[in-house]
Amino acid sequence: MNFLPFTRPSIDEQTIESVAAVLRSGWITSGPRVKEFEAALYSYCGGRPVRAFSSGTATLQVALTLAGVQPGDEVITTPLTWVATANVILSAQAKPVLVDIDPATRNVDLKLLEAAINPKTKVLIPVDLAGLPVDRQQLYAIAGRHKVRVIEDAAQAFGASWRGEPIGRGGDFVSFSFHANKNLTTGEGGALVLPADIDPGLCERLRLQGVSRLGDGGMEVDVLGGKFNLTDIAAAIGLGQLPRLEAFTARRRQLAQRYFSRFEQQPVAGLELPPRDFANSNWHMFQPLLPDTTDRGSFIAAMSKRGIGVGVHYPALHLFSLYRGLGFKPGDFPQAERVGARTITLPLFPAMADSDVDRVCEAVAEILR
Ligand SMILES: Cc1ncc(COP(=O)(O)O)c(C=O)c1O
Repeated sequence: MNFLPFTRPSIDEQTIESVAAVLRSGWITSGPRVKEFEAALYSYCGGRPVRAFSSGTATLQVALTLAGVQPGDEVITTPLTWVATANVILSAQAKPVLVDIDPATRNVDLKLLEAAINPKTKVLIPVDLAGLPVDRQQLYAIAGRHKVRVIEDAAQAFGASWRGEPIGRGGDFVSFSFHANKNLTTGEGGALVLPADIDPGLCERLRLQGVSRLGDGGMEVDVLGGKFNLTDIAAAIGLGQLPRLEAFTARRRQLAQRYFSRFEQQPVAGLELPPRDFANSNWHMFQPLLPDTTDRGSFIAAMSKRGIGVGVHYPALHLFSLYRGLGFKPGDFPQAERVGARTITLPLFPAMADSDVDRVCEAVAEILR
């Protein structure tokens, strides 16, 4: 039986051809395809300025600079995310302030988040875990009350929406990742949607060594920029993906629905199903929680033996030694710890067949029985 990975990108032949065309063109780094990809993202985001980057980590890093975060400032986020979200705060020499999650959504608990805001708080970084958006109305009401900026870590939420509005069309800074596992991929890549008060030119300079090209062939450097540009090779992949996004999301929703109906018809004792949302989420991942008594490592090994890949996204990040070294400890965020210790990511990607879902559900039931 073929191995079923927990995710796999859907790259069609036309996209492969378009990548080959870039490779043959003689111009393979940032160029016309990146401009085209940015123009397509600009339309997708309802006419907001968008700049393409080499990763979703780079977008967060540049967004923190653009938001004016200085050493010692506080930035609030969730402990239940890919560690990049908190690492970029440390890279900016700011202080990561973590608040626990709401178990109903597994996203940051907005009441706790508001309570953690103080005069040192500069930015909030909410994360749309598994593509389930944080409540944007409540989030921006809080940000407005306390006059703090927001960098939406929507790395996993491309294609998701909040009350009918695609993520990226509204809000302050919005950061996307196009990593290989994401709903829309460029292999590696990201995009940053900019608020109206931010100069896109400065964003571009922060992306590439602070350089501005002068008309006479010369150049000027006025800020310390990074090396965060996307290649035309990657942009060509993104351009091939974007027209398929809606179909990808629709298929993911169908597969998630099938997981729910299968697990509800034949419940597995102690298995906790993910938040059920078929209005907003892009179903980036399908993540049940294992029963308390199940050893996750053995479960993953047993699934692997049956030819099924299972991921873990993510252990609560404050328990990593880097973060313990900053003073975080077990018990600080009990909800995130509980979810982080029990979460599993089951296979979910657009090319999966209905029968793949059935096979996964049967294997889970068999192992946990
Ligand atoms: C929530 C979250 N934030 C940030 C990132 C970083 O994105 P990238 O891997 O493109 O740097 C990811 C990617 O996995 C993510 O899932």
